[in-house]
Amino acid sequence: MKTLQPGNLPVHLAVIMDGNGRWAKKRMLRRIVGHQKGVETVRVIVEECSRLGIGYLTLFAFSAENWLRPKTEVKALMALLKQYIRAEVPRMMQNDIRFNVIGNRADLPEDVNREIDAAIAKTSANRGMLLTLALSYGARQEMVSAVKHLAGEVAAGRLDAEAIDENLFGRSLFTADIPDPDLLIRTSGEMRISNFLLWQLAYTELYFTDVNWPDFDRDELAKAFRSYHARERRFGRTSEQLKSEF
Ligand code: FPP
Repeated sequence: MKTLQPGNLPVHLAVIMDGNGRWAKKRMLRRIVGHQKGVETVRVIVEECSRLGIGYLTLFAFSAENWLRPKTEVKALMALLKQYIRAEVPRMMQNDIRFNVIGNRADLPEDVNREIDAAIAKTSANRGMLLTLALSYGARQEMVSAVKHLAGEVAAGRLDAEAIDENLFGRSLFTADIPDPDLLIRTSGEMRISNFLLWQLAYTELYFTDVNWPDFDRDELAKAFRSYHARERRFGRTSEQLKSEF
């Protein structure tokens, strides 16, 4: 980690944790073993990001489309999530991490929701990293519900349609109080966004690695950060404009 530039790390890191199933298949293990190993990686990466002073870490843990997986896998993933949240709260307290969830929580089993509520309440006064799990999350669904909410406000006469701008729309999403991600990491060699944070990723730097999520470790994270250090974020402007501002 020697060559990391502490002042030039992403404020918000988002991660699509992919490849648990392939990791297991390569080893002739059941898919769930890959997910179990994936949870260990979550622990390591959460701790490392918190140690490095990352402000926001958002992990895509279960998509709105993942409900279509075999029932046994869905059940096992829900059980893992519940276990993870319960087991991690003490560590979140130690590391001053605040816990948060985005996605359609109404779809989640009641016992998982109870664990989420308890973790959110217990960690709510923490002021270190905000750890957000995206659960039953889909970006298109998120945007449609934001539109419905705004349309309802207009219909009720509480909002002038002309007042709808990028800022107000952004504030109607699950991520209202979270800055847009600076860096997105996707593991396992797939080069897709898969309905994750479509609005919020507009100017995010993308980093893809062939490493499967269970094998992603501190060194792989450092590689992603070093790649991020080398990016020039222009937000639509020219390189010369950026240089003349400093
Ligand atoms: C992708 O692997 C991963 C998921 C669908 C879920 C991610 C879940 C975890 C890392 C474990 C639970 C998470 C937490 C936060 C406790 P895949 O199954 O799509 O792999 P494949 O593409 O190789 O089949």
